[in-house]
Amino acid sequence: MKNITIIGTGYVGLVTGVGLSEFGNKVICADIDNDKILKLKAGEIPIYEPGLDEIIKRNVQNNRLLFTSDISSSIKNSEVIIIAVGTPQSDSGEADMQYVYSVVNEIKENLNGYKVICTKSTVPIGTGKKITNILKNNFKENSDFNYVSNPEFLREGSAVKDFLWPDRIIIGTSSLIAYEVMCDVYRPLYINKSPINHTSVETAEMIKYASNSFLALKISYINEIANLCELVGADVHDVASEMGKDGRISGKFLHPGPGFGGSCFPKDLESLSFISDEHGVQMDTLTAAITANRKQKKQMCNKLEKLVTTGIKDKVIAVLGLSFKANTDDIRESSSIDMINFILSMGGNVRAYDPIANKSMSRLFSNISYFKNVYEAIKKADALVVMTEWNEFIDIDLNKVYELMDKKFIFDMRNILDKNDERLGKFNYFGLGN
Ligand code: UDX
Ligand code: UDX
Repeated sequence: MKNITIIGTGYVGLVTGVGLSEFGNKVICADIDNDKILKLKAGEIPIYEPGLDEIIKRNVQNNRLLFTSDISSSIKNSEVIIIAVGTPQSDSGEADMQYVYSVVNEIKENLNGYKVICTKSTVPIGTGKKITNILKNNFKENSDFNYVSNPEFLREGSAVKDFLWPDRIIIGTSSLIAYEVMCDVYRPLYINKSPINHTSVETAEMIKYASNSFLALKISYINEIANLCELVGADVHDVASEMGKDGRISGKFLHPGPGFGGSCFPKDLESLSFISDEHGVQMDTLTAAITANRKQKKQMCNKLEKLVTTGIKDKVIAVLGLSFKANTDDIRESSSIDMINFILSMGGNVRAYDPIANKSMSRLFSNISYFKNVYEAIKKADALVVMTEWNEFIDIDLNKVYELMDKKFIFDMRNILDKNDERLGKFNYFGLGN
C-alpha cells in the first residue's frame, strides 16, 4: 500500500483516486479548481458516475481518501504522484500539454525524496522521455525519481466497474523498482491475477492511442455499413451480430449510431493523426475514421430533414438524449450538439430531455426548452429523435407517444426501439441500417 497523490480530479483522476483508495492505498486527490475540491470535501460529486458516491463515502470515512487544492504539500507527502490533468485538443489536432507540463514543474519544485512519477492522462508518444529529461535537469533518475506511463482505459458511465475490473493494466517504465511500486499500488488486482503488463514507456503511450483509435475506427466502419444496408435492403443489426460471432471481430463496439463523441475518441484520433504525420507515417485509417464520423453527424441531420417531409422550419422536434452516450452527464463532442444546432439553423424548435445531462446542455444552449421526462418533451412535437441509448427510452409507451405528438415522425439513431413493434407501424419511423 502506498501514499499516492492524484493531480487532476476530473473523470479519470477522480475515479482513479477513489479506485486506488479502495485498494487500500492512502490517496490525496488534488486539483487547482478549489470549488471542485470544496464540493468534494462536502461530499458533493462533480460528475455523474454510477457507484462512485458510495465508494467515495467509504474511503473518506476510513481516512484513505482526501481532497485538497494544496498540490505542493500533497506531493511532498506522497511516494507516488499520478498526473491526470486534461490534455485537450489544440487547433492543429495536437494534444495541448500545457497542464501536464505545469504539473511537472510543480512536482520538480516539491521533489523531496524518491518518488514514482506516473502519467494517466492520454499524452503523445515521447512525453515520458520529455518529462524524465525535465526532471533530470535537477534530480537523479533512479535515486530521486522514476517515471511510469500507466494509461487508463475506463469508459464514462461504467468507469468504476472498468477501474476495479480492468481488462489489463499497463505499466510502462524502464525501472524495475518503479514497476514493483506500481504492482504494490494495484496489489488487489495483482493478487486476483488481473493482467499487469510491463512495457517500455513509449509502448504504453502507444497502446492507449492505438486502442482508442481502433475502437473509434470500428464504430465509423459499422456506421458506414449501416448507411449502405439502408440502400441495399440489408439489416445492420443482423450484419453486426453475425460479424461479431467471429472471434477475430467480436461483437463489441459494432452498434451504429449518430457518430461517436466524448472527451477521448475525437481528440485521441486527431492527436495520433498529428503524431503520425509528424513522423511522416500517413495513417489513412485514422483520417478515414475522423472523416466518416464527421460525415455521420451531418448525415443524421440530413436524414432528419429528409424524414420530416413537411420541412423543419417552425416544427417542434423532441430530442431524447443529450449526453454523448448513456449513463454519463458528459456532453463533450456529443452528436446531440450537432443535431440541435442543425434544427435551430433550419428554424425549428427543440424540446429536449435527458435523464441527467439537461443541466450540462443548458450551459451550451439556453435557447431551447428542457423537460423532466420523455412525455413532457414530446408533447405537441412533430418529430422525435433518439440520440442517446438511455435504457428508459427502450420501453417508452408508443401509444401514449402517438397521442401526445402532433406529426408522427420518429428517428431512432440508436436503434433502441424494437423495429418489429407493431405500434411503430402508425408512425413515420426511421431507424439506422434497415
Ligand atoms: C483527462 C484527460 O483529459 C484525457 O486526456 C485523458 O484521456 C483522461 O484524463 P478527464 O478526466 O475527462 O480527461 O479531464 P477533465 O475532466 O478535464 O479533468 C481534468 C482535471 O484536472 C480538472 O478537474 C482540472 O481542474 C484539473 N487540473 C487541470 C489541475 O488540477 N491542474 C492543472 O494544471 C490543470
Ligand atoms: C472511451 C474508451 O472506450 C475508453 O477505453 C477510454 O479510456 C476513454 O474513451 P468513453 O469515451 O467513455 O471511453 O466512451 P465509449 O463507451 O468508448 O463511447 C465512445 C463513443 O462511441 C460514444 O459516443 C458512444 O455512443 C459511441 N459508440 C460506442 C457507438 O456509437 N457505437 C458503439 O458500438 C460503441
